[in-house]
Amino acid sequence: MNGKIFKMKVAIIGQGYVGLTIAAFASEYHEVIGYDSNQKIVDNLNSGVSHIEGVESSLLKRRVESKRYLASNLGASIADVDLAVIAVPTPLTKDRKPDLSHLESACRTIGENVREPILVINESTSFPGTLRNFIKPTIEKYSVHGVEHIYSISPERVDPGRSDFDQKNTPRLFAGLTSEASQRTRVFYSKFCDNLVEVSSPEVAEAAKLFENTFRQVNIALVNEFAQIAHALGISVYETLDAANTKPYGFMKFTPSAGVGGHCIPVDPTYLAAVAEEHGAPATFIRRANEVNLEMSRYVVNRIAADHAGSLQGLSVLVIGVAYKPDVSDVRETAAELVIRHLRDAGAVVSWHDEIVGVWKGEKSSPLSSADIAVVVTKHSNVDAKKILASATYVFDTTGKVPGANGL
Ligand SMILES: NC(=O)c1ccc[n+]([C@@H]2O[C@H](COP(=O)([O-])OP(=O)(O)OC[C@H]3O[C@@H](n4cnc5c(N)ncnc54)[C@H](O)[C@@H]3O)[C@@H](O)[C@H]2O)c1
Repeated sequence: MNGKIFKMKVAIIGQGYVGLTIAAFASEYHEVIGYDSNQKIVDNLNSGVSHIEGVESSLLKRRVESKRYLASNLGASIADVDLAVIAVPTPLTKDRKPDLSHLESACRTIGENVREPILVINESTSFPGTLRNFIKPTIEKYSVHGVEHIYSISPERVDPGRSDFDQKNTPRLFAGLTSEASQRTRVFYSKFCDNLVEVSSPEVAEAAKLFENTFRQVNIALVNEFAQIAHALGISVYETLDAANTKPYGFMKFTPSAGVGGHCIPVDPTYLAAVAEEHGAPATFIRRANEVNLEMSRYVVNRIAADHAGSLQGLSVLVIGVAYKPDVSDVRETAAELVIRHLRDAGAVVSWHDEIVGVWKGEKSSPLSSADIAVVVTKHSNVDAKKILASATYVFDTTGKVPGANGL
């Protein structure tokens, strides 16, 4: 096709961080239906209001006005699309097992509504075999029009809030279940991604995505464990890491924290561990890394208590930054949640400050002032380190970004 892209009608199932970001890029070239089961999200998007960092409301508004983008929660709206991208959540169940229920419901929407054979691309993160053994058969199970679609995977690597790497310059893995699916996937993404990397099977692409995030998870756990060792030895973890980082090869610097958050790092490795164990392979390292990261919140609270004669009873504590990482409003799996729980269990009177998040679990962000103790879990770039230091009698920083504070 000489790189030429023909205008298509594209359904993107799920209009969250991944789906809306793809919709913003794809709607420059194609007509996009942003299908989402959440009515409020659909209404906001159709009024040109974006809820995702990196997708400007002004751009969305232009796309809606020019009829290149329409959000919908009606199955009929995707009946005549040429291509569907799946971008729905793949969380964990309460007992921390892979939860494919959103994926199943997305497959049902496609199966019940799409009338002609199309290319279905999965961007949701899941374990190897999901495209072949779950998505394809589930869509076929629900298909009322008896059509045979073709399938591919292209795991998403978007890092919300990041400006140096986006859809255009982040290499994108992909693989089809058939060569036609691979070829059409390449054509679809080539307009808005400069570097497409085809791998030999969907399972390799699915596994690579999980391994990338598992790599981060175990390295974060390692540095979190090392922070505890450094403290016990009476040396600075940050100075030690900077010293190690002078080695020009074979070392990659990760920094300690109160734990990991977001939809990916605390979740994806568990998908890999689950599929490993199902196939009789060990995942002890992955499981332990998850535990070390989860235990960091308790370690942080214990350190603060130790600096207060072992008791936090009745003390006012301000948790600063409850988003899971700087400069985003996403609180999914945030380490702040466990920090707050352990502080409350220890008898502290806890409030939190995060103007980017604003409201969380029915509580409002408190002013940055007058607590006995402040704990920095996430430091947004617009929160001044000096104001943090002035906000409490004692400040414990888990980010390494507040000079002069106590910390890891
Ligand atoms: N957020 C990231 O940084 C990131 C990066 C790479 C990969 N991923 C993966 O991408 C997938 C999507 O993640 P996200 O962060 O965009 O999730 P999200 O929670 O931001 O958005 C998902 C959207 O899907 C909608 N939805 C849920 N079930 C639906 C259904 N059956 N039909 C239609 N809409 C439905 C929800 O209302 C929501 O708006 C996950 O598998 C995630 O692991 C996320």
